Parts: sequence; C-alpha cells; structure tokens
Amino acid sequence: MRILDIVNRMGPPLPWAEGDNIPWNDPEFSEQMLKEHLCHDHDHASRRLATIDQQVKWIHHELLNCIPTRILDLGCGPGLFANLLSKLGHSCVCIDFSPASITYAKEQALKENLPCKYLLNDIREANYGDNFGLILLIFGEFNSFNNKDTKNIVTKAYNALQDNGILLLEPHTFEAVKEMAEPRSSWSAKKKGLFSLRPYLCLEERYWDAIVRASTTRYYILDGVTGDVMRYAQTAQAYTNEEYLTLLSDCGFSDITFFPSLTGSVKEIQKGLQVITAKK
Ligand SMILES: C[S@@+](CC[C@H](N)C(=O)[O-])C[C@H]1O[C@@H](n2cnc3c(N)ncnc32)[C@H](O)[C@@H]1O
Repeated sequence: MRILDIVNRMGPPLPWAEGDNIPWNDPEFSEQMLKEHLCHDHDHASRRLATIDQQVKWIHHELLNCIPTRILDLGCGPGLFANLLSKLGHSCVCIDFSPASITYAKEQALKENLPCKYLLNDIREANYGDNFGLILLIFGEFNSFNNKDTKNIVTKAYNALQDNGILLLEPHTFEAVKEMAEPRSSWSAKKKGLFSLRPYLCLEERYWDAIVRASTTRYYILDGVTGDVMRYAQTAQAYTNEEYLTLLSDCGFSDITFFPSLTGSVKEIQKGLQVITAKK
C-alpha cells in the first residue's frame, strides 16, 4: 500500500471486511504486546497483577467454592490468570494465538511446575476438549468476533463443559462498544511501538455501523523510513444484555447471571466491561 491508497480509501469500512483484529498473532507484534501485558503501570493488554490476584480469588471462592476443577482459558495471553488459578489447586488448559504470550506462559508454568497446558491456536478453530468445570473468555475479547464465530465459540464452550460447568465471560457493554467509535479520527507518531520497532505514524479512523451495531477502527501504519503503508482493522460487536441472554440461552446455557465486575463488586467496575456467568 502507498499513501495514495489512504487518500483513495473507501468510506466507512464494513465491519470485519478489512481485517478482524489487530495482529495479535504476528510474531513481532506479539513480542511488543507481551511487554504491555507484563507492564504493571497500566491495565491495557492485561490488568495489573494485584487486580488479577483479587479477580482470581473471586473466581476461586465465589464461582468455584474453592473446589479444584479443570479450567479452560480462551485468549489466555501470558497466562496471568491460569498460573494463579493453578496455584489454588486447579488444572488449566489455555489457548491463545499470540506466539510470544504462549512461549512466556509455558516458561513460567515450567519454572514453577504448574499444572497448566498452553496451546498456540486460534480459538475460532481450536478443538477445546471436554470435561471442564470452568471456561473463561475475559477482558473484552468476546466482542471482537463476528456473529458466526461468536456462536461457534459459545457452542464449543458449552460442549467442552461438564454438567453444571460455568462459562465466565467478561464482554463490553453495548454503550462501551458504541463509544469505541469516538473520536472519529486521530493520529500519533512513535519512535517505536506495538506496530513496528521502526519509527512510524499511526492514523486511526473509527466508525459506528448503526445497522450491524458494531464499531470498527481502521489503522494505517506509515513506516517513517520507507513510507510503506500497512492497514489493519478491528471490529467490536455491540450486544444489549437481552442479546447476551438470548445468545447464551440459544446455545443451551441456563442460570445466566450478570455481575458488575470480575470481583463481583461495584467498587471494582472496569469502565465498559461487565461479567456474565452461565451454567451448562
Ligand atoms: C486483551 S488480551 C487478554 C489476555 C488475558 N485474557 C488477560 O486478561 O490477561 C486478549 C487476548 O486474546 C487473544 N486472542 C484474540 N483473538 C484470539 C483468537 N482468535 N484466538 C486465540 N487468541 C486470541 C490475544 O492474543 C490476547 O492474548
């Protein structure tokens, strides 16, 4: 791509049409993203360890009644949840398609001899196995999938749970997804960053598609040395709480409960996120 392609770009991108997500699974991008996951000055890619620790305790005490079980973590990142859960007696299988995160998570589990198995795979395609007491898909990633993939992921999760097993989701609220389309456009200059280790400009445009009810962010990355242009796009689907309920019950789930946060408490609300549990 060249700069002229940006000038001649089409208007608002159709949701998912120009790519479905930022390149989590690109090796170089995943190395840069791993630094963000492990940085404890902010809560961007993963939350700070002190917060995760509280959330893990809530999962262990309130959802699992302190009874050891088999846990599947979908989109596990560097395994910050699974490694802590396994120290409380649970055994974990974790899937993520970020190579750097999975390598890091495997190293940590090996170092501490934890019962965690880390698999490098796309959760849209992976076989989940079965007999899990709990399945997690947290920190907003639920909304990044299109309707077909979302139904497929929820159905596979249902089939992978044991009877009375729990699906734990942490999706965005409808309003939060709508707000992702603001501001309409922005740009930044980086000496190096997530998208490249070389200097680059990042141009971002955001759109709310009122028919699909999805926000799409389009990124143009302009290499500061060569002028080469790369394009990425990321879409998030908005759901009302009624739609979350319908989606989960259509896939067989019951006892669907909404919580304000991953500690169950309103005091720990993370803006735009909410928690849903559903039972098989
Ligand atoms: C926001 S991070 C959250 C990581 C972790 N759950 C946490 O809370 O610390 C989202 C994770 O989902 C992963 N992910 C996104 N889409 C995926 C897919 N289709 N298959 C597997 N992993 C995916 C990314 O690589 C990333 O590690």
